[in-house]
Amino acid sequence: MAATNSIKRNRFLVFLFATVTAALALYLFYVFFSNRLEGPDANDNFRIPDLILWGLLAYSGVRLANAAIFDFLFRLRRGYEAPTLLRNIFTLVVFAVLFALIFSRIYTKVNLGAIFTTSAIFGVIIGLALQDTLGNFFAGISLHADRPFQVGDVIVVGSHVGVVQGITWRAIKLRTFQNHIVLVSNSIAAKEAIEVSPRDNLNARLVYFSTIYTDSPAKTIHIVREAVRDADNVSDKIDPIVRIRALGDSSVEWEIKYWLDDYAKYNDTDALVRQRVWYALRRNGLSFAFPTRTLYVERRVPARPVTAEDQIADRLSAVDVFSPLSTDELRQLAKATAGHVFAPGETLIRAGDEGSSMFVVHSGRVAVQVADRGSPRTVAELTEGNFFGEMALFTGEPRTANVVAVEETEVLEIGHAAMKYLFQTNPGLAESISWTITERQAALTRGSDTDQPSLHEQGGLLSSIKRFFGLR
Ligand code: CMP
Repeated sequence: MAATNSIKRNRFLVFLFATVTAALALYLFYVFFSNRLEGPDANDNFRIPDLILWGLLAYSGVRLANAAIFDFLFRLRRGYEAPTLLRNIFTLVVFAVLFALIFSRIYTKVNLGAIFTTSAIFGVIIGLALQDTLGNFFAGISLHADRPFQVGDVIVVGSHVGVVQGITWRAIKLRTFQNHIVLVSNSIAAKEAIEVSPRDNLNARLVYFSTIYTDSPAKTIHIVREAVRDADNVSDKIDPIVRIRALGDSSVEWEIKYWLDDYAKYNDTDALVRQRVWYALRRNGLSFAFPTRTLYVERRVPARPVTAEDQIADRLSAVDVFSPLSTDELRQLAKATAGHVFAPGETLIRAGDEGSSMFVVHSGRVAVQVADRGSPRTVAELTEGNFFGEMALFTGEPRTANVVAVEETEVLEIGHAAMKYLFQTNPGLAESISWTITERQAALTRGSDTDQPSLHEQGGLLSSIKRFFGLR
């Protein structure tokens, strides 16, 4: 950014220098030829080397003063880079003054003031031609003086929304969320209301959804807030707020207010928040409202949001440790399970939490992760028919790892009571599960930096499972 600014500044100075030199050259040609015609005495004023020397001196002086004031003093006092516009104005004014001084010293006979004051027509023409440009220029000055926003802030001006890339003497440069560059001229921006979301500020967003009237508001608030809190880029400095904004004709209308770490990514974050709400409602048996004002016939959403019992029994029969169970036992177990759906990236189990149920992956994929030198390391990926969460359920110890959904994943949750019942009728089950736990514990202790539970020897583990479940 600083490099582009300095390129622009150099171009501007070169342009200014070239223009002044060209004007002087024209004038000198004029003086030269008129002197020729008038005779040798009139040549006194024709001192090109002086002019060039003074011109070069003025140029270097202005550059030096510019660098000293803006690169050094301004930065020292204000702590940020001087705006390009301010530098340009400074350069322009100093050049104009120096030009007048040098010119009047070298060409004492020419009255510059008279030239400028008498050329009224010239002034009108210039004024008309530069009307817009001057408008932009002065609006730019006031924007710089007010500093209502800075580079990196998200602003809404008129119909344009984007991240501020810079403010020049002519326009505000915005990068839109479609990655287009929009230039809003300063004079237009000065007339519009500008909504600024500063980069270093915690900015909030509102996301809306509607539920049916039979859903409990307290439950909805709790579930949605937890789901949103967990999403990427949702700030953990302020808790999201979930509140009813209206009791509509056909739905309870909700508003989620959440704060973002990086406001420039609000489109993605809004979308993720809506996605999390969908999954959370679905998992907890809450329903989005139908957008209707007329009579509609609602077929009651089945209590189990996921799949029918037969399919679940089928899935359970494919789980290796459950394969010895009879069809009846599988059906009983299927009845006792609860189905949950998780979005990609959602955490199903957190290491260190208490846990009194295990899960079978019905569809999708999860990653088992442990902390390894501060960052997550995946020790295993589990897919359909695999199970997890058995360690805490059978040993009573805290969860040993994080389990995170890699893709949309539907799991079947099996609680303590259902397992206890199965253990009583199938004594072999505890043994086969104890083997799995022993193997997994061994894999976990390799290269992990968390405090893993001590490695159980399989026989000891089996006895402690039996004790824990009150079996003989
Ligand atoms: P639990 O400790 O209750 O919660 C985290 C779960 O991750 C754990 O139970 C196991 O089901 C699972 N897990 C831990 N280590 C492994 C591993 N090495 N391979 C597969 N799954 C594992």
